Amino acid sequence: MMRHFLSSADLTRDAALQVFQLAADLKQRWKAGRRGTPLAGRTMALIFEKPSLRTRVTFEVGIVQLGGRAVYLSGAEIGLGTRESVADVARNLARWVDGIAARVYAHATIETLARHATVPVINGLSDSEHPCQALADFFTLWERGVDIGAMRLAWIGDGNNVCHSVILLGALLGASTVVACPPGYEPAPRVLDAARRLGGRVEVTEDARKAAVGADVIYTDVWTSMGQEAERVRRQEAFSRYQVNETIVGFAKPSVLVMHCLPAHRGEEITDAVLDGPHSIALDQAENRLHAQKAVILTLLGGSIDDV
Ligand code: CP
Ligand code: NVA
Repeated sequence: MMRHFLSSADLTRDAALQVFQLAADLKQRWKAGRRGTPLAGRTMALIFEKPSLRTRVTFEVGIVQLGGRAVYLSGAEIGLGTRESVADVARNLARWVDGIAARVYAHATIETLARHATVPVINGLSDSEHPCQALADFFTLWERGVDIGAMRLAWIGDGNNVCHSVILLGALLGASTVVACPPGYEPAPRVLDAARRLGGRVEVTEDARKAAVGADVIYTDVWTSMGQEAERVRRQEAFSRYQVNETIVGFAKPSVLVMHCLPAHRGEEITDAVLDGPHSIALDQAENRLHAQKAVILTLLGGSIDDV
């Protein structure tokens, strides 16, 4: 099993499937009222350089449900990389806590934390990846019984951090992925190369309709990610033909599942009718952030499901 979880590519297919099974068991036990505390007395530090609703709450609630505690630290408060070097923050935290989750701008920051911390480090989103999101997303499909190896996923929108993690985990699990985006907003070539080296089938097109045709899953995310606010108007123009609306959904399979990591910019990348409509599983994804992350925390911190 991996020591840190910084990228979807840190997983293997078998490791991902083990996490899905553990997440399903944890979810089932929690819903059945089991309240065992396998991580009693353990603590995680949660560092956030950017805002969050889902990631912060699911990490904090997740560790508490497992019997541990969380310490929230905003990037501004600890001066990550300004008041003190990232390496020194990692070395200090590792003397007090049993694990670190961090949401950062530069991916290099989470890599530096992992290099210098002697405890597990989990990426709660960087400019390059959002592996906890992708894990919860594929867990959501897996628990619905979707045949991931036979599935065609259309990513419509920005080739961003969430897109990267979805492409990489999709490749590990045998999904076929097509990304529809305007020129200049493609996923990073190193991610496409890595996905192909993992045996993934990944295409990139400018044609959103073509991508949607026959899709089992349509996934979208905001056009302007955190940290890109100054580009908002330019991005709204560039992406105007990439909205996931009822017309686009109509090109996909009748059973299509529509995914969004949230938060949504309603009326931009997705319409209310689609996000709130019968194909949308966005809230199941959000719910499963909790269960999938509990599985990751339990695995990396070395707790046992038998104590739950
Ligand atoms: N999907 C997600 O990570 O949401 P937050 O930014 O609210 O954490
Ligand atoms: N791509 C978005 C995802 C938010 C969960 C961002 O980075 O802002």
